[in-house]
Parts: sequence; C-alpha cells; structure tokens
Amino acid sequence: MKSIIITGGAGFIGSHVVRLFVNKYPEYRIINVDKLTYAGNLANLKDIEDKPNYRFVKADICDFDTMYALMQEEQVTGIIHLAAESHVDRSIKDPFTFARTNVMGTLSLLQAAKLYWEAQPEKYEGKRFYHISTDEVYGALEMTHPEGITPPFSTQASSEHHEAYGEDFFVETTKYNPHSPYSASKASSDHFVRAFHDTYGMPTIVTNCSNNYGPYQFPEKLIPLFINNIRHRKPLPVYGKGENVRDWLYVEDHARAIDLIFHQGTIAETYNIGGFNEWKNIDIIKVVINTVDRLLGRAEGEDMDLITYVTDRAGHDMRYAIDSRKLQAELGWEPSLQFEEGIEKTVRWYLDHQEWMDNITSGEYEKYYDDMYGKR
Ligand code: NAD
Ligand code: DAU
Repeated sequence: MKSIIITGGAGFIGSHVVRLFVNKYPEYRIINVDKLTYAGNLANLKDIEDKPNYRFVKADICDFDTMYALMQEEQVTGIIHLAAESHVDRSIKDPFTFARTNVMGTLSLLQAAKLYWEAQPEKYEGKRFYHISTDEVYGALEMTHPEGITPPFSTQASSEHHEAYGEDFFVETTKYNPHSPYSASKASSDHFVRAFHDTYGMPTIVTNCSNNYGPYQFPEKLIPLFINNIRHRKPLPVYGKGENVRDWLYVEDHARAIDLIFHQGTIAETYNIGGFNEWKNIDIIKVVINTVDRLLGRAEGEDMDLITYVTDRAGHDMRYAIDSRKLQAELGWEPSLQFEEGIEKTVRWYLDHQEWMDNITSGEYEKYYDDMYGKR
C-alpha cells in the first residue's frame, strides 16, 4: 500500500490532485498537508472529505518536527509537493513569505523525508519525492522567434507547431533565469530538490508547468478574478498593454500529468508540462468576456468596456511557452481538452458556484493590491 503526503491539497491545483488520487486509488492512503493560508480552502474538497483513504492535516510545511513525525506515523512512501505561495503580485509586496514557504518549507520536507527514509531498512527503495514547479523559473521569452516568426497565439496548437516554429520555447534544459521574487523562490526550491538527489540519492522528480485554469482557482488570479468582476460589472484591471503571453492548461490535464509522472516518470528527471496554447492576455480576456456575457444571457461583448488598463506589474515577464514534447514522447501525455471547451467549462463552473466565490470574496484580497495597480 502506498501512503502519500500531498502538500497544498486545499489549494487550486492541489485539490484536483488530491481528488484524482483519492478517487482513482482507493488502496492508497492520501494525506493532505495544508496550512490553510488565505489560498487554502477545504470547501474545494467537500466531495471527498469523508472517503476512508483520505486524511487532512492542518500543518505548516516549514515545521520540520511535525513533518518528520507525520511521515513516521503514516509510514509515508511518497510526497507530492504543491504547497507554496503562488501569486506573483503578492511576492512583489512580501518576498519574505515566499522565501520562507517556498524555499525553507521545501527544505524542511526534503530533510524530514531524508531522515525518515534513510532510517528504513529499504531506505529509498520504492520512495518518491515529487516537486511541482513552474515555467516561470525559466524567465521570459521574446514575442517573436529568432527567425522572425510569430508564434501561433490564440489558437490551441498541437505539438507540431513546436516543430514548425523553431526552438523558442522553454525546454527542460533551458537555463534558469527567474525575475520575480515568486519565481526566484520556486527556482531555489527546485535547486534544493535536485541537490537532495545528487547529494543523498533521494529519488526526486521535478516538473515545470505553465499557467493552469479551471475550477477552484483563488480569485486573485486572472481568469477567476475577471469572471467574477464581469459578472458584477466591475472594472477588469489589465496590466500594461495586455500584450503579455501565457500558455494555458486546463487544471485536470495538469493533475493527470502529475499522476502519470508520479507513477511512471524517471527518477532525477525534469518534465515540462504545457498546453501548446499561447494567448495574449487581452485576447484571452475578450474570450472570457464574451463567454460570461453569453452564459449570463447578455449580449456577447457587451462588457468590453469594463477593460481598464492599469499600471504594469513590476518586472512583468513578457511571454511563457512550454515545450512538453519530452513528456509526450516518453510517457504519452497530451492535453485532453481543447481550449474553447476548457474555458467554457471553467466559466460555467464559476457562474454555477457563486456561493463558493462569495465565501472567498470578503473584499479584502482585492484591496491588497490597490497601492500597486490603483483602486479597482
Ligand atoms: P494555491 O495558492 O492555490 O494553493 C497553495 C496551497 O498551499 C494553499 O492551499 C495553501 O494553504 C497551501 N500552503 C501555503 N503555504 C503553506 C505552508 N507553509 N504549509 C502548508 N501549506 C501551505 O496554489 P496553486 O496555484 O494551486 O499552485 C500549487 C503549486 O503549483 C505551487 O507550488 C505553484 O508554484 C505550482 N504551479 C502553479 C501553477 C498555476 O498556474 N497555478 C502553474 C505551475 C506551477
Ligand atoms: O506560469 C505559471 C504561473 O502562472 C504559476 O507559477 C503561478 O503560480 C500562477 O499564479 C501563474 O502566474 P501568472 O502571473 O502568469 O498568473 P496571473 O493569473 O497572476 O496573471 C496572468 C497574466 O495576467 C499575467 O501576465 C498578469 C496578467 N494580469 C493578472 C491579473 C491578476 C492582469 O493583467 N491583471 C490582473 O488583474
């Protein structure tokens, strides 16, 4: 039997991973370790909270003694580590918290796993420490490729577009070049994970994923924030010119990749995970506006005038785009959803779960950024 700690399971991606593992593997024991920061929400897991193979533990990953004791108590064989401070804007205001959780928290887990696993007769055999990271550690890409070709923005392409459009994507060997305190802290944690493999032989895996979207995302991130604002006819704060590009992946496709890699990925390897789906912010915002309007029975595009250009994010990375051909070639993973389908499902979910949204939006989180982007 496998006994797996999933950290950050009350957050956005973590809740999808916990749900997938609890439902798909009734023979595993799944221990969700989450501090329940502002971003953690147990309502994300209501449907599985009573399952016999699930346990929730409210704890801080930085608390080494608690992590070590829990690993001993649960005889943990696997760790899937998602807990983190995840929002770039917050990291600009409060970098210390990001270094504490993302760097020291990861180190605390690594050290606890090392001491616990090394004390077992079989040591690292059958064990796995899987660290979930981000494409942001690679820095930013140019808008046009070196050959002067513009990538196929705003259409979901297949992996073939990577063949056609050259090499200007993040690959697993791209040099780390983080710009924000968030990405610097994630890069640092990635280095620690790899160092534990190289130094102690810990069986680690790291994956770097692009922007996720889908249900249960905290509404400070672009897509859920904008869906909710459109619904309430509040301004949509677009940073800078709205020209920045992100590569969007439906969250359940990420969870599926995590499942596959946890079970079949090669130890010490890195896998990039992405949607082959690059969008300029302003274009994706227009799609979201049209979709919300249509689903609310308004005239499509009627809320375009909510678009409000505000001060740009400090150090705003221009473009992220993942080349996930390694994952496709080695493990056969591909995104399952076309973007049109994914965004429709997502908008519909938020509109159908207004109570979930209202329970979060006390208003405080919106005020958090007033000094950076102006009052919304
Ligand atoms: P999130 O902010 O929605 O959730 C983070 C969770 O971690 C929350 O439940 C929070 O309570 C918990 N947490 C924070 N600090 C903790 C601590 N000290 N101890 C225990 N729990 C703590 O984040 P997310 O968007 O779901 O991202 C999850 C992971 O995936 C992160 O590591 C992030 O860097 C990575 N990632 C996110 C994306 C994305 O688009 N959201 C893309 C690639 C990688
Ligand atoms: O690429 C993966 C990363 O994606 C993850 O590692 C991060 O945890 C996750 O938060 C996300 O980071 P981004 O900064 O790309 O996501 P965010 O939703 O904050 O912003 C998406 C884009 O939209 C970005 O270019 C900034 C812009 N934006 C965002 C907000 C919240 C706006 O223009 N206005 C906004 O109000």
